[in-house]
Amino acid sequence: MVLLGSLPYVARTSPRSVSPSETLRGPDAFAKMADKTARSRALFVEATRVLLHPRCSNCHPAGDSPLQGDRQLMHDPPVQRGSDNDGVVGMQCGTCHQDHNLELARVPGAPKWALAPRKMAWVGRTGSRWKSIRLMSDVCEM
Ligand code: HEC
Ligand code: HEC
Repeated sequence: MVLLGSLPYVARTSPRSVSPSETLRGPDAFAKMADKTARSRALFVEATRVLLHPRCSNCHPAGDSPLQGDRQLMHDPPVQRGSDNDGVVGMQCGTCHQDHNLELARVPGAPKWALAPRKMAWVGRTGSRWKSIRLMSDVCEM
């Protein structure tokens, strides 16, 4: 996991599929659910709101290019995944992305900036409660 620390705003903003007024709920909000299975599922679904947030899933696509911003536009300039998920010769992620955010240059950064491997592709895995639960169980099994 590369940069939870450098995207602290993620949990405060909401993914597109969720009403903006709804903030992320902590485990306490689910404590009163008596049915343990239902509670686990509800917690999993809540966690996918972070994983599927555009600013997280931008590096977790199934394709060859990272996405950028809240609208998940194609990365500009165009870059490729490459065999090690960190770009291709001459256009490696680390050429532009340093180990920390460069505020003046407006280039985000974190150590070992790269695309997540394809098996960790989350973009598009939205749409139903069941899909969210499957996503979380895949993440937990990895
Ligand atoms: C700069 C690209 C990038 C961004 C943005 C990013 N990730 Fe990742 N993520 C990665 C990479 C690369 C890996 C694989 C790391 C490894 O194999 O050691 C990864 C792996 C993970 C994993 C492990 C998944 C597994 O199946 O083992 C989790 C969980 C994760 N990221 C969560 C997040 C969350 C939550 C956010 C948003 C706060 C986020 N990522 C944003 C690049 C990114
Ligand atoms: C030629 C320089 C360059 C290279 C190479 C490059 N990037 Fe970027 N990247 C940028 C710049 C500049 C931005 C910020 C664009 C903006 O905000 O307008 C950016 C933004 C991003 C974002 C959006 C972050 C967000 O918060 O929405 C992601 C994700 C990303 N890059 C991933 C990658 C990955 C993965 C690679 C390697 C495969 C890579 N980049 C290679 C210059 C580059």
